[in-house]
Amino acid sequence: MTAVLSTPRTDLGRVVVASGPVADHAVGTIVTDHTPTVPALARVVGADEQVPLRSGGTVRYANLDYAASAPALAEVAQTVQASLTQYASVHRGAGHLSQITTRRYEAARETVRRFVRGRVDDAVVFTRGTTDAINLAAHITRGDVVVLDIEHHANLLPWCAPDRDGSSRARIVPACTTLDDTLDALEAELAAKPAALLAVTAASNVTGEVLPISRLAAIAHRHGARILVDAAQLVAHRPVSLVSHGIDYLVFSGHKLYAPFGAGVLIGRPDWLDAAAPYLSGGGASADVDVTGESPADIAWHTGPARHEAGSPNVLGAIAIAAACDALESIGFETIGLHEEFLRAHLDDGLASIDGVERLSIFADTTDRVGIAGFDVTGRAPREVAEHLSESAGIGVRDGKFCAHPVLKRLGHPDGAVRASFGLGTDSDDIDRLVDALRGLTGNRRRA
Ligand code: ALA
Repeated sequence: MTAVLSTPRTDLGRVVVASGPVADHAVGTIVTDHTPTVPALARVVGADEQVPLRSGGTVRYANLDYAASAPALAEVAQTVQASLTQYASVHRGAGHLSQITTRRYEAARETVRRFVRGRVDDAVVFTRGTTDAINLAAHITRGDVVVLDIEHHANLLPWCAPDRDGSSRARIVPACTTLDDTLDALEAELAAKPAALLAVTAASNVTGEVLPISRLAAIAHRHGARILVDAAQLVAHRPVSLVSHGIDYLVFSGHKLYAPFGAGVLIGRPDWLDAAAPYLSGGGASADVDVTGESPADIAWHTGPARHEAGSPNVLGAIAIAAACDALESIGFETIGLHEEFLRAHLDDGLASIDGVERLSIFADTTDRVGIAGFDVTGRAPREVAEHLSESAGIGVRDGKFCAHPVLKRLGHPDGAVRASFGLGTDSDDIDRLVDALRGLTGNRRRA
């Protein structure tokens, strides 16, 4: 029997937590029975993809690498496909299809604004992804930026780049062993010396630990700083509200939001964006250009998102993000939360039961996590573990340093770790297979 993932909703209230029928399969055999205890919540493209096993045969791919790139939701892929048939230039044509494409692109901004509860005057700028969005934020920010040392490189390196005067404006605050102490340390740093911005992740890409956005925003604002929240690992899993959380700038990527088409977002206050020089120079960002005067060119730049979106933008990427926002809203974050909470508890229990598997945590006092589990297997290199999972059980995880070297170092794993992460297309069979395969690798030793 093959997987049936068409069930759009899961009534988790009626689910009995138990070993699924596939939990006992021997790792390395061809798995033909796929009847998960908890099915996927939504259909994703490639859900039934078969991958080869070392022992021969194939198995349905268990994608446990959503934190790197989530597969497209079926609705997102359908929307992109449909948009392609009416695709034409954006902002550059009076033709009917150009007008449709332009309307879709601009409507995508409004969908994003609604999805993250942006203010009416917030600018919604489409970027290439989170890294690009934070580089744009760094480009428009004048003054010091306070960051924690637990950030992935996207929210660390852009701030460390030399400012115009050649100095770095990043003030990196080491996280403490508890979240409460870490918030106190941030507060002390901002109180000791003013900063323009506090730039902080909403959830760790290594451990999944969720940070308290509203409290962080209050700390920043108390000391006259703005806050940028890197929501790359949160927006697909939790509702986010710029208004309610008090966020000044929010960034995220489409490819972690089930819209893997090369686009991302920076949404936030328009004043710094309009005051800064265009992020890229070129057509679309310029309102008027004159080359007849004394200077090489006399250029009037647009204000608003266009100022920082020179060139033909990634229309399909923006449409995909909007389609993902629509799809997630239609499923509802309460339902998403129930699904992911079940899988998270199931994964936590499974990993905790294996002798030789150590979960990574930054803070001693946090229990709130999204579906990301960084872990180490005693005596095994991360790549060896990831290859074992792939070749013996058809499981995809990420291994290495997760573009977050400082946090791996502070957690005592400078050579990296393994990370399993999941989302709407994940079912309990995926988790069972991971736990089974890790048990096989560690000699089936149960933790005492
Ligand atoms: N930040 C992405 C990850 O954690 C690339 O995998």
